[in-house]
Amino acid sequence: MKNILVINGPNLNMLGIREPGIYGSQSYQALVEFVTGVCRSHDLGCECFQSNHEGAIVDKIQAAYEKVDGIVINPAAYTHTSVAILDALKAVSIPAVEVHLSDVSQREDFRHVSYAGMACEATFAGYGFDGYRLAVEYLLEHHG
Ligand code: DQA
Repeated sequence: MKNILVINGPNLNMLGIREPGIYGSQSYQALVEFVTGVCRSHDLGCECFQSNHEGAIVDKIQAAYEKVDGIVINPAAYTHTSVAILDALKAVSIPAVEVHLSDVSQREDFRHVSYAGMACEATFAGYGFDGYRLAVEYLLEHHG
């Protein structure tokens, strides 16, 4: 494993402002620095991508084909709606791990379904930023 792509979906650019009681008080930039630091400590290249647009996320996953060794994805609200993101993850067959800052299993029923999760090897939900570290380390442990 040499290169990891970290994808964050809609409204995660609003971290720190958005519902801090659920998502915490740290910014998206702080999340990028955290994940980049985790990857650096494992000698891994890391690209962080955030978009509020479903098609842009699909395009990014497709562009990763044969270029990226692992994907860490928090599809945010698209988790619960997007068959397109599920299909894109399946299409590229890149090992992927799903992350959620909050524990979606303890929230509203509509957050209990994860389409993207069906194409992911593991899910870390409810660990805040640390879920991204767990996801990176999962990929390293299972895919070298
Ligand atoms: C989230 C959980 C989703 O249900 C929600 O729509 C988000 C963020 C999380 O990180 O906890 O935007 O993916």
